[in-house]
Amino acid sequence: MSLEAIRYECGRLEILDQLRLPFESVYEPIKTVGEGWEAIKRMKVRGAPAIAIVGTLSMAVELKSKQFQSSEEVVDFVTSSFDYLKTSRPTAVNLSEAANRFSLQARELAGHHPDDPETVKSRLITDIESMLKKDVADNKSIGEHGANHIASSLAGSEKARVLTHCNTGSLASAGYGTALGVIRALHEKGILEHAFCTETRPYNQGTRLTAYELVYEKIPSTLIADSMAAALMREKKLSAVVVGADRVVANGDTANKIGTYQLAVAANYHKIPFYVAAPFTTIDMSRASGADIVIEERPAEELTAIQGIRIAAPGIECWNPAFDVTPAELITGGIITERGVFMPNELPSQTV
Ligand code: MRU
Repeated sequence: MSLEAIRYECGRLEILDQLRLPFESVYEPIKTVGEGWEAIKRMKVRGAPAIAIVGTLSMAVELKSKQFQSSEEVVDFVTSSFDYLKTSRPTAVNLSEAANRFSLQARELAGHHPDDPETVKSRLITDIESMLKKDVADNKSIGEHGANHIASSLAGSEKARVLTHCNTGSLASAGYGTALGVIRALHEKGILEHAFCTETRPYNQGTRLTAYELVYEKIPSTLIADSMAAALMREKKLSAVVVGADRVVANGDTANKIGTYQLAVAANYHKIPFYVAAPFTTIDMSRASGADIVIEERPAEELTAIQGIRIAAPGIECWNPAFDVTPAELITGGIITERGVFMPNELPSQTV
């Protein structure tokens, strides 16, 4: 059984508190939109797809527990909840995409059933619940397409050696994962020789979460510090670098965890194919280029301390952007989606 970041059954939502991993597995109930917002902001749950699912399910759970006099009241609750949830973390697009989609659906349902708030509620909740299954199915397709694409570039009986960044696995999604899903699929097909993961400073998603998932799944793997990536590319003959995404915009520029850009630069220098793995819900055609992406800045304490223990010299100033933007031209392998692998310039024709 694979790790579960999100547990949901019959209106009960629980999340695995990722702040306590890898040492403790503690599930925490989420009963309201406020609790969902808090869990996302504090990064108890993180990763673009998981943020969207937990945010949206927190709204569904509270919606289920409430009584409404009219369908219009349901629409007001849904839209105001989503407006609030969207303020939790700005860079990943998935929560905004789900918020816009379900707000529109609530309005349409209310138009058809103006005096039946229970029908509007229940139809909306059923559709929101289907996000969990769809995310796992999409991730499995991403894994399949990505593994086949990478396999086709290997010579003879060669096996793949893949570097990934941050955490994009079961813990960042409803299950299986995106970039880590590609590594998982390569392993399942017997064509993975080795996976490498970066520690992903400052928040250490690689050390704490990806390393945990790789060990849990018994995938042959090695942890490196972020500063070792270029040396790894020169010394260890990588087949591909595969990362996730928080927002892919119209020209293919991609926001992902801070450090992704430098990996893409180094991969290009070493002529190693650089892939982004993401579902279509991460593609944002409303923004033209990476310059239009809002990059979240996180507290300095994430940089100056590890697990509450200060490591930085007192008095130093800090800059702590949580994400960076990789220009489309550096995504040389392609963007691996649930519908296939596309070059960045092919995306617009895939989203019409
Ligand atoms: O700050 P985080 O941990 O939410 O950042 C996560 C990432 O950047 C992931 O690569 C991205 O969300 C894709 S997760 C499938």
